[in-house]
Amino acid sequence: MPRTITIAGNWKMNKTATEAVELAKPIIQSIANQSEITVIMCPPFTALHAVSELIANSSTRLGAQNMSDKASGAYTGEISPAMLRDLHVTHVILGHSERRSYYGETDAIVNKKTLAALENSLKPILCVGETLAEREAGKTFAVIKTQLVQGLAEVSASQAENVIIAYEPVWAIGTGKTATPAMAQEVHAFIRQELTGLFGESTAQKIRILYGGSMKPDNADALLSEVDIDGGLIGGASLTAKDFLALVEAGKTAAAKKV
Ligand code: PGA
Repeated sequence: MPRTITIAGNWKMNKTATEAVELAKPIIQSIANQSEITVIMCPPFTALHAVSELIANSSTRLGAQNMSDKASGAYTGEISPAMLRDLHVTHVILGHSERRSYYGETDAIVNKKTLAALENSLKPILCVGETLAEREAGKTFAVIKTQLVQGLAEVSASQAENVIIAYEPVWAIGTGKTATPAMAQEVHAFIRQELTGLFGESTAQKIRILYGGSMKPDNADALLSEVDIDGGLIGGASLTAKDFLALVEAGKTAAAKKV
């Protein structure tokens, strides 16, 4: 069974709820109930409810961009897994490099969130990736290994099938610099090898590994043709319906080739 190609839009801190509906509407109308690939929209928390209502009868999935690892209580400003589930959220981005660098999220915190997501039947999209300094120092694989091993600590093999990994080289996020398909494939293959060590071959073959970092319609086909690139986590180019739909088309083309 080939892994289902996944196209996920990370809208970051963009779009009011009103604007999110304007963006999501034409996308949902256009892709309707396609089932060739998994499409996930990750609006900000404040737009989850509005987008949830729009996608209720479609195959499009809803993702959050962060989550508390706590179930409830005195955690001002935080959002619990149950709150997301209640809005029909199915996926949650965890450990994005912006959260790691601006909000001090460590691998230990990312691990707690990953476990909480899985316990609440939310699929984590666990982000890993090296900075430019780390790449130039030859530390790419070591950094990614640590992020994987620590971020996935205590995750069982059966739970791991519900985890999506996103490889996002920090130097490529929002910069217009994309990893070449060969550079990305090299790291994706390394990630799959590490997942094999952690969870065994058959589980590792099922886990989807997305690429993120300046992915856009004109580089998506080449990236998605690589054997271990199972989709994209897309920031900037997910903010217009035209580009998002073009990326969905690229995903479908790749899915048709990978059968
Ligand atoms: P970008 O962001 O596509 O704008 O580079 C990707 C991401 O950070 O998820």
